[in-house]
Amino acid sequence: MGSVGVLFLFVSLYVGLLMDVSTAQMPGFVSLDCGGTDNFTDEIGLFWSPDNYMLSGEIANISVANETRKQYKTLRFFPADNNKYCYTLNVVSRTRYLIRTTFLYGNFDNNHVYPKFDISFGPTHWATIVISDANTIESQELIFLATDPAINVCLSNATTGQPFISTLELRQFNGSIYFNQYENQFFLSLSARINFGAESDTPVRYPDDPFDRIWQSDSVKKANYLVDVAPGTEKISTRMPIDVSGDERPPQKVMQTAVVGRNGSLTYRLNLDGFPGTGWAFTYFAEIEDFDPSDTRKFRLVLPGDPELSKAVVNIQENAQGKYRLYEPGYYNISLPFVLSFRFAKTSDSTLGPLLNAMEINKYLKKSDGSADGPLLAAVTSAYSSAEWAQEAGDPCLPAPWSWVQCSSDQQPRVTSIKLSGKNLSGSIPAQFTNLDGLVELWLDNNSLSGSIPDFSGCPNLKRIHLENNQLTGDLPASLADLSSLRELYVQNNMLSGEVPSALLNKNLFLNYTGNAGLHKGSNGGNHKKIIIGSSVGAAVLLIATITACILMPKGNNSSKQGKLQHGLPTQKLASSLGDTAAEAAHYFTLSEIEDATKNFERKIGSGGFGVVYYGRLKDGKEIAVKILTNDSFQGKREFSNEVSLLSRIHHRNLVQFLGYCQEDGKSILVYEFMHNGTLKEHLYGPLTHGRGINWLKRLEIAEDAAKGIEYLHTGCVPSIIHRDLKTSNILLDKNMRAKVSDFGLSKLAVDGASHVSSIVRGTVGYLDPEYYISQQLTDKSDVYSFGVILLELLSGQEAISNESFGINCRNIVQWAKMHIESGDIQGIIDPSLHDYDIQSMWKIAEKALMCVQPHGSMRPSISEVIKEIQDAITIEKGAEGVREGSSDEISRHSVHSSLNLGSLDLGASEHYLSIDDSIARPTAR
Ligand SMILES: *[C@@H]1O[C@H](CO)[C@@H](O)[C@H](O)[C@H]1NC(C)=O
Ligand SMILES: *[C@@H]1O[C@H](CO)[C@@H](O)[C@H](O)[C@H]1NC(C)=O
Ligand SMILES: *[C@@H]1O[C@H](CO)[C@@H](O)[C@H](O)[C@H]1NC(C)=O
Ligand SMILES: *[C@@H]1O[C@H](CO)[C@@H](O)[C@H](O)[C@H]1NC(C)=O
Ligand SMILES: *[C@@H]1O[C@H](CO)[C@@H](O)[C@H](O)[C@H]1NC(C)=O
Ligand SMILES: *[C@@H]1O[C@H](CO)[C@@H](O)[C@H](O)[C@H]1NC(C)=O
Ligand SMILES: *[C@@H]1O[C@H](CO)[C@@H](O)[C@H](O)[C@H]1NC(C)=O
Repeated sequence: MGSVGVLFLFVSLYVGLLMDVSTAQMPGFVSLDCGGTDNFTDEIGLFWSPDNYMLSGEIANISVANETRKQYKTLRFFPADNNKYCYTLNVVSRTRYLIRTTFLYGNFDNNHVYPKFDISFGPTHWATIVISDANTIESQELIFLATDPAINVCLSNATTGQPFISTLELRQFNGSIYFNQYENQFFLSLSARINFGAESDTPVRYPDDPFDRIWQSDSVKKANYLVDVAPGTEKISTRMPIDVSGDERPPQKVMQTAVVGRNGSLTYRLNLDGFPGTGWAFTYFAEIEDFDPSDTRKFRLVLPGDPELSKAVVNIQENAQGKYRLYEPGYYNISLPFVLSFRFAKTSDSTLGPLLNAMEINKYLKKSDGSADGPLLAAVTSAYSSAEWAQEAGDPCLPAPWSWVQCSSDQQPRVTSIKLSGKNLSGSIPAQFTNLDGLVELWLDNNSLSGSIPDFSGCPNLKRIHLENNQLTGDLPASLADLSSLRELYVQNNMLSGEVPSALLNKNLFLNYTGNAGLHKGSNGGNHKKIIIGSSVGAAVLLIATITACILMPKGNNSSKQGKLQHGLPTQKLASSLGDTAAEAAHYFTLSEIEDATKNFERKIGSGGFGVVYYGRLKDGKEIAVKILTNDSFQGKREFSNEVSLLSRIHHRNLVQFLGYCQEDGKSILVYEFMHNGTLKEHLYGPLTHGRGINWLKRLEIAEDAAKGIEYLHTGCVPSIIHRDLKTSNILLDKNMRAKVSDFGLSKLAVDGASHVSSIVRGTVGYLDPEYYISQQLTDKSDVYSFGVILLELLSGQEAISNESFGINCRNIVQWAKMHIESGDIQGIIDPSLHDYDIQSMWKIAEKALMCVQPHGSMRPSISEVIKEIQDAITIEKGAEGVREGSSDEISRHSVHSSLNLGSLDLGASEHYLSIDDSIARPTAR
């Protein structure tokens, strides 16, 4: 009886299977041996099943000394990328469960880099798993009331190493001991479940505890776990049965042991994982000592700083109405610090000291509501339940979005982009899509969708709609013209009919409706401001180039804000100047103007991949850099114009500003702002160092600037732009030593929607992404690789390639740095010219740099993640600089204190974590 259906799903592109687990075990138990291959029953009688239908992730075998349990011989690990990897388990709604995940690293990747990643429970961030020892099992446990028929546990956001999981255990509760009035908004996350007076170090669990809770022994030695034990603390135990009947009370075995304070008190200190915060805390007492009827045992709980809590007196026999019976006072809503010091002290009229059998402390974990669009997308994926793309489990946006979805960064995210191009969709366009009111882009092209185009007025923010290459019928709804943000509408190659509504023709809109035999332009259509690609495609290629150029469609709020700040014009303005040709969009310099400015190309200031650069000064005094392109860079005039048109539309504070161009006398010339302080390369190794290099903080700021420029190319431009040749000589510094990226945009645009652009390998030795080199498949992660090399150069002051610096058989900074960093020797690579720096910030950058130069693009972080890390490093470095400069003792002492302060049980201070009600001081007994 009681077979439990378990559904395994995963993020990547395969199909999840419905799986029936076990009959030979407790009803409502699921025990997954991640990475395992067989079913088995372990020595305590739990039935384990493998997670071998997970098609994402990989299996590793590990071997850890003294760990013989089969479920810890294997694990499953996942790529360190932006996706989430989810397990889905079926549950019974309105039932309480315990779910436990465990993690035993065992150096499975032979990397000795301790992984750090997040786990989430549905859309709720559950915990950050930080491995700090290869042989210690990390564990997380939640108690929850199921509200849906399925739950998801997802791994994501690896900041070091690769996310992995050893076991996933689900235990169904029977009664209601964990019932509480907050359970619709909060989960209970386990911090401590302790069996006092335990007879061995082995925890008590199944089958002694029928719900397989794990009661840790109080004799286990681990850091800051039950220390400060008062003298006179003694263990006692009994073989007498203890009445623990009903609900999920602690098992008899736990209640049969206890500690007593012979000297009148029991004192302990322990670290509460997850706190400070508000929690659920219960103590479990049973009188198990035989004593003379003239003796009494009465005591109080004492928490330093909280006299209110000490008022209640415990008299176990009286409270439990007899010996060997359970009494369980507790608090449903109590603020606790991270370092909990607690004491039980006998009352003055009591002859015996206090007694304690067990305690349990959980923290309230606020549930996330998930994306506002979650239910709509769930309806879509369940309608396509057999399609690969519909298998990604969990919330569409949290903690990481599905691969075909993009979301806003709001507290409760909205879906902003749906990309289901070429996914074999058939039937009509899912109606749910027309209710996504945050939707900006919808890509449903190249499918077999039929039926008519629905009314999209429920998506007022739509900017681009791709419906081309389907089998849509009916007319082109005039309501599309009411979408005020709509700028691109692709409906070509369908079976649409009727007239193109004049409202659409008159809208400032890129509209392609070719290949619809029955669809035609009305007689009164159109004026000249708009762009229509009708059945004649003869229109200037330049126009198309213009439309695909950057800036037109900044993604997300940030970049559009930046767009406005940078050039003072709202992006809309650029959109309406679409009719301009490239030549009109970019400033044209005459050759004689340029010859005057450069005094006939007198001062050469550099030469790069595309040509030689000269210094110049315009008549108005503005200093410029003039790049004469080598002849073979741009054969055709048209190609040159396309590039220029693109360049003139890329504006960002961290990109060298393009001022104009010139094409005369067979010369193709680009004019840029002049950057006073030359290239980063010169500052790191060149003549500009003058023996005094730039300090670490400055280097971090330069890295941040450059990364922001790259981020803009990758994410602020549609289609995104891959630089392809990032290196220290392409990072230029202005008067104030702020960095800008140069030489961008001279390469092919990344093709939007495709994951890579195949093109002839271009780049610079030492910075070249090995994956790109081998496969010739270019992605934005190729830039991330090059940027990782730059980070290593900033750290080490070494050039990317060197014949001498890196020792025998090593010419490459990546190999050299990897070897040192992974063996923990960061000092071995730090630039000797750097003196004052914070080693933490160095480590942050070193670890991120290694992530950037991972052999496979999919394992590298996005440039945006790199920026976050650099910013963290800057914060650390600034803090440390403050300490070095200022009253260093004061500050460093302060920072040590702040963690100790938690020990003083400052209940007021944790108010902002959660404020459920004011009845904190009222103990509750069940
Ligand atoms: C494991 O057990 C389940 C249910 O008892 C069964 O369906 C499945 O085939 C078993 N798998 C293996 C690999 O033995
Ligand atoms: C793990 O060990 C099993 C049995 O020893 C073996 O069949 C399997 O190939 C190993 N898997 C890996 C990934 O090493
Ligand atoms: C393994 O167990 C043995 C015997 O109990 C002990 O001596 C040894 O220190 C343990 N090793 C580890 C790594 O815990
Ligand atoms: C990813 O992890 C880092 C470090 O633990 C954290 O700062 C960041 O907020 C996390 N990102 C997300 C999206 O949860
Ligand atoms: C669950 O509750 C039922 C009915 O109250 C009871 O028969 C059963 O023994 C309980 N199971 C456990 C494990 O306590
Ligand atoms: C419009 O669509 C047709 C058919 O796909 C295509 O050949 C043409 O290039 C498109 N026009 C523009 C300007 O994109
Ligand atoms: C950067 O350029 C400015 C102006 O030319 C100059 O004053 C300053 O010394 C330069 N900084 C460095 C570090 O070279």
